[in-house]
Amino acid sequence: MEETQQNDQKMEFRALCEEFRANNQIPPEKFDLYQVKRGLRNPDGTGVMAGLTLICNVHGYLIDDAERIPDKGILTYRGINVEDIVEGCRRENRFGFEEVAWLLLFGKQPTRSQLEGFSKLLNSCRELPEYFAEDMIIKAPSRNIMNKLGRSVLALYSYDDNPDDPSLENNMRQAIQLIARLPTIMTYAYQVKRRHFDRQSMFFHPLDPNHSTAEAILNAIRPDRVFTDEEAKLLDLCMILHAEHGGGNNSTFTTRVLSSTGTDIYSAISAAIGSLKGPRHGGANHRVMMMMDDLMGHVKNWESDDEVGSYLEKIVRKEAGDRSGLIYGMGHAVYTLSDPRAVILKENARKMAEEHGMLRKFELFERVEKLSPDVFAKVKNDRKVISANVDFYSGLVYEMLGIPSDLYTPMFAVSRIAGWCAHRIEEMETCGRIMRPAYRSLTHEKQYIPIDERE
Ligand SMILES: CC(C)(COP(=O)(O)OP(=O)(O)OC[C@H]1O[C@@H](n2cnc3c(N)ncnc32)[C@H](O)[C@@H]1OP(=O)(O)O)[C@@H](O)C(=O)NCCC(=O)NCCS
Repeated sequence: MEETQQNDQKMEFRALCEEFRANNQIPPEKFDLYQVKRGLRNPDGTGVMAGLTLICNVHGYLIDDAERIPDKGILTYRGINVEDIVEGCRRENRFGFEEVAWLLLFGKQPTRSQLEGFSKLLNSCRELPEYFAEDMIIKAPSRNIMNKLGRSVLALYSYDDNPDDPSLENNMRQAIQLIARLPTIMTYAYQVKRRHFDRQSMFFHPLDPNHSTAEAILNAIRPDRVFTDEEAKLLDLCMILHAEHGGGNNSTFTTRVLSSTGTDIYSAISAAIGSLKGPRHGGANHRVMMMMDDLMGHVKNWESDDEVGSYLEKIVRKEAGDRSGLIYGMGHAVYTLSDPRAVILKENARKMAEEHGMLRKFELFERVEKLSPDVFAKVKNDRKVISANVDFYSGLVYEMLGIPSDLYTPMFAVSRIAGWCAHRIEEMETCGRIMRPAYRSLTHEKQYIPIDERE
């Protein structure tokens, strides 16, 4: 397109936005007036109750006399504290993601033989359908791996002989195949992105049938295929912590909303991936690292509370960073005093930072974590208690594991798919009603105006 034509189009788009702004203002006070649960939150900030689940519980506060009292965060998968799952796997020196996927899907911890059978099944499902990589990934690369994951999951519909059957048997087959294949899609998409957009060489390593999911990922993204058991177990730990977070988190709720219509699993999971990509959700782990790079570039003395604090104030005032006003990696819809996932990731980040000579950077993260609640309270004049969430330290851990930043949010997706699938199946098996909330219309009746009489 010629430059003048491009400029004309830009002007036209700008004018159309003005047209939109002139006719589409909703005064914020109307939300209170009509008692709209904006963001599906109650007036006290708690989430609107939208369903029942056996899969997970996220505890972040106590309710006393209808008031929200901040409390230490607790996360349980099928009633079991995630801290105990992590500790159990560490003590028994085992990988845990496969076991967590089983627990989430079926509701009970697997026996040793059930786990061995399930791990084998996952491994036998990792390969993509014939020509899928060539036709769907290599021929259509994307700069953004989350975008590629979503498109690829949707495309898998065409490679499934029975995509629309809503029976438990069919959903379970599809779910297990998706949990196994998403890491393969992620690593292929990353290789193709490297070649197409970064002009670097691509490498496709054969899958090893004895690898856990974490090992399969490291095997695929390390050029020399070399990694230590400690590194693979740490990546596995990250996957355990990201695998599930209740029915109300945006991507899982998205899965449940789509599943409530009876649509196919590929539509539901690709929509969940789109949701997770958002910077207020899973995309925050990438934004944290961008925010910290920006902060490191602007703050001279990383050891100074004053300097770091005043830069954080600028971020919240939308004068620095990406101008969203958000300190990424801080705050949560449910957690208040702490997010147990962040606590575990932080311990591991500190240990790795000591080993990698990155303590100074780790301590800067710690300083941002320490100062953010006060900065938030001061600038926003908000009494809400905030703390570091799962995304605050995960990028730092991935960086020290040599995981490229393109894969920070996709790593969240290949873990959370276990929870999405469990919730899809629960929605279809136990709920059976289409989700359909209401929107109050603020328009008044108007007369239709014939086209020649309009101004
Ligand atoms: C996670 C998050 C969406 C949860 O939000 P929430 O507790 O439900 O709070 P809301 O989104 O309703 O926000 C309430 C107010 O606090 C602000 N806020 C919340 N977290 C904030 C943060 N980390 N930095 C700055 N402001 C924040 C919001 O912008 C909003 O301000 P407004 O009323 O002027 O619009 C929010 O804390 C956030 O955006 N955090 C940063 C992104 C992030 O780390 N996401 C990963 C979540 S695991």
